[in-house]
Amino acid sequence: MEAREVLPDPAAMAAYGARIAARLRAGDVVALEGGLGAGKTTLARAILAALGHADEVPSPTFTIIETYAAPPLRLAVVHADFYRLEDPAELAEIGLDEYREGAVLLAEWPQNAGGFGHEPGCLAISLGPRGESGEGGRIAIARGGADWLGRMP
Ligand SMILES: Nc1ncnc2c1ncn2[C@@H]1O[C@H](COP(=O)(O)OP(=O)(O)OP(=O)(O)O)[C@@H](O)[C@H]1O
Ligand SMILES: [Mg+2]
Repeated sequence: MEAREVLPDPAAMAAYGARIAARLRAGDVVALEGGLGAGKTTLARAILAALGHADEVPSPTFTIIETYAAPPLRLAVVHADFYRLEDPAELAEIGLDEYREGAVLLAEWPQNAGGFGHEPGCLAISLGPRGESGEGGRIAIARGGADWLGRMP
């Protein structure tokens, strides 16, 4: 399952995040792929907002993990940025699996954590610039695991 989405501006990103949020179930992972400035944190913020998070969303670049409880959110969320992870083995120390129980994982730089493509609940979103340097916004390619059959955003 693959779907391509044109996101001309941050407002389109917000609407796309809301569509993803509406389809999310506990246990899913949204793997946010793309280089520096691709829009991963912007999309994670849009998903969190649509799930009912009203406040700011700090980028977890330094903390690696930020958690959000349900309620007030519709689903509990773990927002992770694995950019600084040196080795996937560090995930056990961080306790990622414990944090993920009953929650949705929004993962930036998922490849640094070993990748999540083998999980049936993985929705991989690959973000890239639209136009030479992103002057046309962003393009998203979504790929869903088996659990995403019939609920692709
Ligand atoms: N659809 C869009 N159209 C235009 N600009 C966008 C769009 N989505 C995000 N941006 C802008 O791109 C910039 C970088 O976004 P963001 O911080 O989300 O990237 P990132 O992938 O998380 O980067 P990093 O890897 O450095 O954490 C921000 O200024 C954001 O407003
Ligand atoms: Mg980011």
